[in-house]
Amino acid sequence: MRHLLRLSSLTRSEILAILSRARDLRCGGRPWQSPGGILGLLFFQPSTRTRFGFHAAMARLGGAAITLEETKWHPGMTEPESLEDTLRSIGDYCDVLVLRHAAHDSVVRAAAVLKRPLINGGNGTDEHPTQALIDLFAICEAHESLDGLIVGIAGDLRDSRAAHSLLSAFAVFPPAELRLMYPPSRAPAAELLKPLGIPITKSEEGLRVEDLDVLYMAGLPEGRGSDALGDEVRSRFCLTLEAAQRLPGHAVVLSPLPCIDEIDRRVGELQVARYYRQSSDGLYVRISVLEQALTWVRAMDAGPSVPATRSLAS
Ligand code: CP
Repeated sequence: MRHLLRLSSLTRSEILAILSRARDLRCGGRPWQSPGGILGLLFFQPSTRTRFGFHAAMARLGGAAITLEETKWHPGMTEPESLEDTLRSIGDYCDVLVLRHAAHDSVVRAAAVLKRPLINGGNGTDEHPTQALIDLFAICEAHESLDGLIVGIAGDLRDSRAAHSLLSAFAVFPPAELRLMYPPSRAPAAELLKPLGIPITKSEEGLRVEDLDVLYMAGLPEGRGSDALGDEVRSRFCLTLEAAQRLPGHAVVLSPLPCIDEIDRRVGELQVARYYRQSSDGLYVRISVLEQALTWVRAMDAGPSVPATRSLAS
């Protein structure tokens, strides 16, 4: 694997290999490879799970992590140094890098100047591919595969990068049926749904959960100004205890987390709540992703060598 910028950067077999290795790791079936290395954590937006998870994953692989949260700027400079300048300067210090940034084009710009693999840790409201791998892993842990499943995705599907990557994953691993539940004005882009080729129902009314095998609570930010969601609208797309109790017993509730109030805290005590385990298991998925990236790095490093120093005499 070179860069992982979008979920569609991966083939079906690459995704299966990552998930299969993650399952091995979770089951303790094979000893962890320990390639070591240095991970650059470039987090220009807040993160708990992605940053902590990748840091822990690299530590488990015997490596180390370095964190950067902003490009250099001080009052004597008219503007911060560019992302490209930063990465051209420090990119070679690392074996693999993870970038979270508000700008959609940040990962493409970064990948263009990096010689090492870049993993998209969330680019604005666009994509969050490793979250989708974690989501697929959680679904397969609960139901073995997506075959025959009815999956519901609820929340702000216009701006949820996690939902966008998960929808891309469903183009490769389609469930039987998809139910999208989102407030008016928070529909996903039509081009995300076009490649799916499965029955899709849409609801702007609220949650309908009775027959779901998976309910993915994608998140429901309040929004700001004219884009703000009113309390009444938000409440229709929140998972109450009563709604969660109407899910089939075999169903699972997943979420990229964090939640504001879109899942009643008491839901976490129910059998159907899988989001904390989903997050914990993210460690194995991240180790698996890093192993793939480090394998690429080692293969490149083992390629034709160049002289370490140039002779002054020649
Ligand atoms: N799921 C996720 O991306 O969480 P963080 O924002 O805490 O990294």
